[in-house]
Amino acid sequence: MGNRELLALAVEAMKNSYSPYSNCCVGAALLCENGKVYWGANIENAAFSPTVCAERVAFFKAISEGEKSFSKIAVVGGKNGVINGIFAPCGVCRQVMREFCNDDFPIILGESENSYKETTLKDLLPFSFSPEDVK
Ligand code: THU
Repeated sequence: MGNRELLALAVEAMKNSYSPYSNCCVGAALLCENGKVYWGANIENAAFSPTVCAERVAFFKAISEGEKSFSKIAVVGGKNGVINGIFAPCGVCRQVMREFCNDDFPIILGESENSYKETTLKDLLPFSFSPEDVK
């Protein structure tokens, strides 16, 4: 699947954002090596700390369905669902990605509904701590 197609799915996923506290809507579309795509949207909570980011929702949905190999992820976000430049994954989400993906994992960051920057997990999380370090 192409980057633009995956980005379009992230835009769709963003529409399911539950973010009444920050009004920051975020969507993610995670492509597995088997071709399946898992969507994620951020889910906030009145107690704030239970909030989960869109990227982690997508990963945890996929992992809990038995997926193990991932090709790339597209992420979009913006205040009130208006995409106005990239909405980069937070540090916790980068670390969660590193648990399941190698350094060269491609991350598609939507700048608008149909334009993006492509980066890698290594660029977003240099000198990472990974499962290999615990062996
Ligand atoms: N958020 C994400 O969904 N992904 C990120 O990587 C950054 C932050 C969400 C969490 C919260 O609901 C809102 O954006 C504001 O922080």
